[in-house]
Amino acid sequence: MITGRTNVFGIMGDPVEHSLSPPMHNAAFKKLGMDSVYVPFHVKKGEIGAAIQGALVMGVKGLNVTIPHKTSVMEHLDEIDHAAELIGAVNTVKFNNGARGYNTDGLGAVRAIEEVTPVKNKKVVILGAGGAARAVSFQILLEGAGEVVIANRTVEKAKSLRNDLVSNLDASVKASDLDLEVIGEIQDADILINTTPIGMYPNIDDEPIINADVMHEDLVVNDIVYNPFETGLLKEAKKAGAKVVPGTRMLIYQGVEAFKIWTGVEAPVDIFEKALMKELG
Ligand code: ATR
Repeated sequence: MITGRTNVFGIMGDPVEHSLSPPMHNAAFKKLGMDSVYVPFHVKKGEIGAAIQGALVMGVKGLNVTIPHKTSVMEHLDEIDHAAELIGAVNTVKFNNGARGYNTDGLGAVRAIEEVTPVKNKKVVILGAGGAARAVSFQILLEGAGEVVIANRTVEKAKSLRNDLVSNLDASVKASDLDLEVIGEIQDADILINTTPIGMYPNIDDEPIINADVMHEDLVVNDIVYNPFETGLLKEAKKAGAKVVPGTRMLIYQGVEAFKIWTGVEAPVDIFEKALMKELG
């Protein structure tokens, strides 16, 4: 039951009505018997500063931030965590005598991959050079990955992200195309992560971005696309005998990490998963 003592959490975005975060967090609150609720807030572009101030004065405890506010929210916060500052985007805000921003997107990917293999000293090939690639590449290097290759259709964007990574972290990073160069890089890679929307519903019949014949069985392949559950890329990975990490795992762990930032409690992963799978059908 919601009372005057219930703690309020939520997600701000535009659009926000299809967000999968409310069912996941509310299921965890229920399971843990916590007097807390997680609600969607539709916040339009240009209103994010007012939304943060409003949340602060109304005693909201924590918020997730999604499209289109992940970067613009930063100027309205009192403090920003080091990794989020490097990534240049915030997806989680904790209110406690002010607003502090974090980014759990990259962390979600790292924790998902670490269910299968440690990332320390590994060679990681990342497909794409947009916002998601930025979060994942910074975080995986912060967690000790040995080498990262950013492979992108527009090679200039891969080079630009590589330059940001190299100038902020003492890291080994290469930029590559999505053709012959990336095939060579995958041959001796340990981990392959797709951050592009290729194969995402409704385009499930897209040609997979990488085929089985250039993968190998020691590779761990993660697709951040979570709908469909098994993308064309993951099907190819299985054909090659590689291990797969579905996009749902990243989605679950970015939520689990946000939950921990707000409450100090490690949320039950199986409860997040059950709630998510129910929503995805
Ligand atoms: P996100 O925030 O989800 O990362 P984004 O910043 O728009 O989204 O980045 C999308 C990434 O997917 C980009 O790297 C984009 O490549 P370009 O930089 O060449 O545009 C990549 N991408 C999107 N559609 C693609 C396609 N059909 N083939 C190859 N790459 C694609």
